[in-house]
Amino acid sequence: MKRVLSGIQPSGQLTLGNYIGAIQNFVKLQETHECFFMVVDLHAITVPQEPAALREQTESVAALFIAAGIDPAKASVFAQSHVSAHAELGWLFTTLAYMGELERMTQFKDKSTGKDSVGAGLFVYPTLMAADILLYNADLVPVGDDQKQHLELTRDLAQRFNQRFGDLFTIPEPYIPKVGARIMSLDDASKKMSKSNPNPASYIALLDPPDVIRKKLSRATTDSGRDVIYNPAEKPEVSNLMSIYAHCADMTLEEIQAKYEGQGYGAFKKDLAEAVVSKLEPLQKRYAEIRSSGEIHDILKQGAENVSTVANQILRSAKEKMGFLLPR
Ligand code: TYM
Repeated sequence: MKRVLSGIQPSGQLTLGNYIGAIQNFVKLQETHECFFMVVDLHAITVPQEPAALREQTESVAALFIAAGIDPAKASVFAQSHVSAHAELGWLFTTLAYMGELERMTQFKDKSTGKDSVGAGLFVYPTLMAADILLYNADLVPVGDDQKQHLELTRDLAQRFNQRFGDLFTIPEPYIPKVGARIMSLDDASKKMSKSNPNPASYIALLDPPDVIRKKLSRATTDSGRDVIYNPAEKPEVSNLMSIYAHCADMTLEEIQAKYEGQGYGAFKKDLAEAVVSKLEPLQKRYAEIRSSGEIHDILKQGAENVSTVANQILRSAKEKMGFLLPR
């Protein structure tokens, strides 16, 4: 059975972008693959986090995984910091990566440009991500479009290791949705929808109450035309809303286009809001149940136990191949 691994940072409210770009595929892939899904708390601290908020968010993201439909009987859900092999292999890969290739990462450029002081963790972020994936010899990595470049670096680092020290790592493939790989901001379709955007009107959080969702979508920016047509180059705002609609209502872009022909944006936006609310309401109900039951701690403990055996074995092989004297 092929192995899948992915992760999400507990660094703010998860958005509809995380859901459509990544979590929906996690839920799908658990039916056909051996799946490992983690909350990447070690990555979250590459920008300052308030300790109490980090703890709360870590629990919240894990609960959202389950609420969205990840079944702990089918997939292992765990916290990255619970499996110390991630940090250790991360260091080994940091020593294999070049400054130049890390400097080229667009996520690093986006997060560091214009800042007076940039944390070293932000710079080596992709080497830890490579370790996350290679530690399990994952075949497939479901992510949104913005992680493609990190995946390419992961592949390069795996190849570099294999060439230098002998074959060990599987070269992973990205698994990116055809529609919705890059959900854009509601107020500016040139930026991706992001949980770290200071303006909450720019994103739909998975835990936004229905009325907030309706309000945000009714105010979402559109062009001055009235045709509901999918054309990301010329109508980026409407095309983005159509992608969201397609995922939430389980319709194709063509079906949406046909449904709203000649009707303008009003009816379209209203129905879009209802489609998003209906998609998120059951998730939110389940989320509340999971949080109040406290079951997430057992799920994370079990998940870390499941994956540790694989992780420790591969870490040991990597250390052996690199020439570390292993304790006997
Ligand atoms: P993160 O936490 O920023 O985002 C989690 C996932 O959501 C996707 N995503 C989006 N997809 C579509 N439209 C958007 N607007 C949008 N915003 C976010 C991301 O592409 C991602 O798949 N580096 C990763 C976390 C990570 C990881 C890993 C992922 C750490 N280790 C190992 C895969 C495998 C990140 O920052 O994702």
